[in-house]
Amino acid sequence: MKTQVVTTDPDHPDPRVIALGVEVLTRGGLAAFGAETVYGLGADATNPGAVAAIFAAKGRPAVNPLIVHVGGIEQARACASHWPPEAERLARAFWPGPLTLVLPRSSLIPDVVTAGAATAALRAPASPVALALIKGLGAPIAAPSANRSNHLSPTRAEHVLADLDGLVDLVIDGGPTAIGLESTVLDLTSSPRRILRPGPITARDLEAALGDGRAILETVGESSGILQSPGRLPVHYAPRSPAYRADTIGEITQTLELEGIVVVVIGRDVAGLDRARSPSHVLATPEIAGRAFYDLLRRLDALGPRAIVVVPPPDEPRWRALGDRIARATLPFRAWCDRGV
Ligand code: TXA
Ligand code: MG
Repeated sequence: MKTQVVTTDPDHPDPRVIALGVEVLTRGGLAAFGAETVYGLGADATNPGAVAAIFAAKGRPAVNPLIVHVGGIEQARACASHWPPEAERLARAFWPGPLTLVLPRSSLIPDVVTAGAATAALRAPASPVALALIKGLGAPIAAPSANRSNHLSPTRAEHVLADLDGLVDLVIDGGPTAIGLESTVLDLTSSPRRILRPGPITARDLEAALGDGRAILETVGESSGILQSPGRLPVHYAPRSPAYRADTIGEITQTLELEGIVVVVIGRDVAGLDRARSPSHVLATPEIAGRAFYDLLRRLDALGPRAIVVVPPPDEPRWRALGDRIARATLPFRAWCDRGV
């Protein structure tokens, strides 16, 4: 298959580009486009054959369900068999935006989308390109991140092509995505309500919008959530070079003397870092780091370093989404030292 690449202004999508995307989706093809979070690999969510092609292109296990992208509340209600008041509240507060709600699904959503689960993950994306495609298609769009399974999520069209050139019909290049990390996934079918994947919208944001005094559970590390949300598998976002996470800059001081090590310090004071010794990258705020993280890891990975060493941000709510992605992309630095560097 030859992959066609077209470009557009992401804020004012070119109608010809949208028409082409809609044509591809209508005939059951695959179109990649920028959401506000990461690039998605889209297919008509109501066409089982088209959705099956997403799994094939990504090499994604059929047991890992996809997010269904809708134009807004009305279409979300059509995809859900039950739309509770809390879904209405959260959708009004955060849509279009980076919040995915897991709800009981309606018969509009075929089995292949949800891996047979009785629930569907729904979100209205904020990207004008995505919204125009959904509107033009007149149906929801199933779209996981547009990377090969287990690789880093794409935040630029080049990343999509690096993973999926020749495997998808169309890539709509709207430049780098605004947020750079995937949406928050909130399960509204469990009690207590639970975040299955931390993202740009935090548990505190959700609790404040709901205002009912009931806490939202944040699953940290391994839990039964893994089966429900395979995005939580430890290796989900890994680069190809060995990548490790240290706890402090002090911990890696010795390592800086080794050749071929690149260091990424996130959300920390770099006073203790001798930057003359080792190539290092410093990402200061959650917004900057969120936008840059996957791209930086892909670029460092391409250099084929001996190792990428990340010093993760502090464990604070505003850093939680990135901390989660780092934990999935790296192994503990100590494990490496114990093997004898
Ligand atoms: O920001 C995003 O959410 C991006 C853009 C393209 O919108 N999409 C994305 O999709 O990250 P994907 O497929 O890479 O991640 C979907 C996440 C996975 O963790 C998956 O397990 C979970 O949502 N998920 C999907 N359907 C689910 C369901 N029915 N129940 C529980 N988790 C579900
Ligand atoms: Mg993904």
